[in-house]
Amino acid sequence: MASPQLQLQVLALLLLLATTATATATPTPTLIFLLGGQSNMGGRGGATNGPWDGVVPPDSGGRKRGSPFHAGIDVHNVLGVGPGMSFAHALFRAIPPSTVIGLVPCAQGGTPIANWTRGTELYERMVGRGRAAMATAGAGAGARMGALLWYQGEADTIRREDAEVYARKMEGMVRDVRRDLALPELLVIQVGIATGQGKFVEPVREAQKAVRLPFLKYVDAKGLPIANDYTHLTTPAQVKLGKLLAKAYLSTL
Ligand SMILES: *[C@@H]1O[C@H](CO)[C@@H](O)[C@H](O)[C@H]1NC(C)=O
Repeated sequence: MASPQLQLQVLALLLLLATTATATATPTPTLIFLLGGQSNMGGRGGATNGPWDGVVPPDSGGRKRGSPFHAGIDVHNVLGVGPGMSFAHALFRAIPPSTVIGLVPCAQGGTPIANWTRGTELYERMVGRGRAAMATAGAGAGARMGALLWYQGEADTIRREDAEVYARKMEGMVRDVRRDLALPELLVIQVGIATGQGKFVEPVREAQKAVRLPFLKYVDAKGLPIANDYTHLTTPAQVKLGKLLAKAYLSTL
């Protein structure tokens, strides 16, 4: 028969287990965002005249000489500031402070939408990362996919035929992502392109505006400051874009 002291220890252990169980039953709310597209999502702010200038503005976290957020993802490119961090910081100020925000970088510079159709490497990686992020954060235990933030289309301005099929391709991609992640109501925030690699910028912008899908928001990058390469958003422009994305997301709550 166990001694009274041992019984006490067992009781203490049971209490400890009970406490742990309660802690697990109240999971940390986590909001996950997928970031897809090309260079302006990957981030080139401060990186259009040689190496990145290393400036991280206060609204993007303020750390001097941090590592660009898409490092190791948007490969073979000089990376700078994108919209992700200022998006997260703007969101932090507006949602319950206990919420964890998870950003999942997926962008790759120079890629037309044909590189993002179901079955392509970039598409499958994005969906795979989305699933992994949900699993890590504990889907069904407080983790939620907030949105797919999408800034892409500049590479579809080179050939007229690409611009013409853009809306249809975008709709197909969104439908596939929603189906593959089993999130039929996944919010998609699409950024209207401000620049292009070719001359069909307006047709692609029109196509973006013509995308007809539920749970879709449109944020326009046109008018934001562009670097002297005529292609990429500057750091202040990216900070502004992040805030616009946050505002678009918050408007859906
Ligand atoms: C984009 O698609 C082309 C044509 O299929 C392919 O050669 C290229 O590797 C793709 N790029 C990326 C980054 O997946």
